[in-house]
Amino acid sequence: MDQTMERAGNFLPRVDESAGSPSAVDRRVVTLTAPASVAAEQYRTLYYRLERMREAGPMKVIAFTSAMPGEGKTVTAVNLALSAARANSERRILLIDADLRRSQVSSVLGIRGKQGLAELLAGECEHRDVVRRFQATRLAVIPAGSTPEEPTQVLASARMKQLLTAVRESFDEIYIDLPPTLPFADASILGHQADGVLIVVRANVTPTKAINQAVEQLGGAPILGCVLNGAEVSSTPYLKNYVKK
Ligand SMILES: Nc1ncnc2c1ncn2[C@@H]1O[C@H](COP(=O)(O)OP(=O)(O)OP(=O)(O)O)[C@@H](O)[C@H]1O
Ligand SMILES: [Mg+2]
Repeated sequence: MDQTMERAGNFLPRVDESAGSPSAVDRRVVTLTAPASVAAEQYRTLYYRLERMREAGPMKVIAFTSAMPGEGKTVTAVNLALSAARANSERRILLIDADLRRSQVSSVLGIRGKQGLAELLAGECEHRDVVRRFQATRLAVIPAGSTPEEPTQVLASARMKQLLTAVRESFDEIYIDLPPTLPFADASILGHQADGVLIVVRANVTPTKAINQAVEQLGGAPILGCVLNGAEVSSTPYLKNYVKK
């Protein structure tokens, strides 16, 4: 892992199902369900690292991918976008679910409705039909919508480029949940249109070889670093004492 990879790197603890959750929001959205937890603090830490990097230059669009499926991209993107919304009352924050294959943002946040990015890019609806405000927060969300026949083609379209140009004008920070890098071209295509890409790595699961392959596949995309997701707090002495029994 080179030095750039370490700049934004962060440790995100494993969150178990007993964390307690109001409404339809997934328990692992700890930024909302357990804001005082060690895990929520780690998302805030990651957010402020990005803030420090923003001092060096504008960085509006941050995309999340991983080498393989199921490493925690969606949970990380949602928690980071909510950390951003809670940290800055004056900024406009947008989360886009661009995983048109296995979209999870809506179910994790308990957002209803069928229309989303896919319908917007197909020209079947307008921005105002798909941008939802999440509960009483400052977070705006564009859900994925239905899975198109050719997701890669849809994400690589001129319409997607135009959408990113438009949301760059209307929002201060944009977070994009992407599919995994190794199985599809989607992450590489959108990663190149982002200002920064974070690679989520599942603790004790993702093989180093897969991470290296993903970095290679992302080519010249602006990779900010890796976040280690699902690590055991007990293996981290500096956090262990802060976990409430
Ligand atoms: N820090 C964590 N602690 C415990 N469980 C987690 C954590 N992060 C993610 N999970 C769980 O792991 C599973 C995969 O997480 P998530 O959906 O965020 O991964 P993903 O990389 O977006 O997956 P996909 O490739 O399918 O889009 C989910 O059940 C999620 O709740
Ligand atoms: Mg996902």
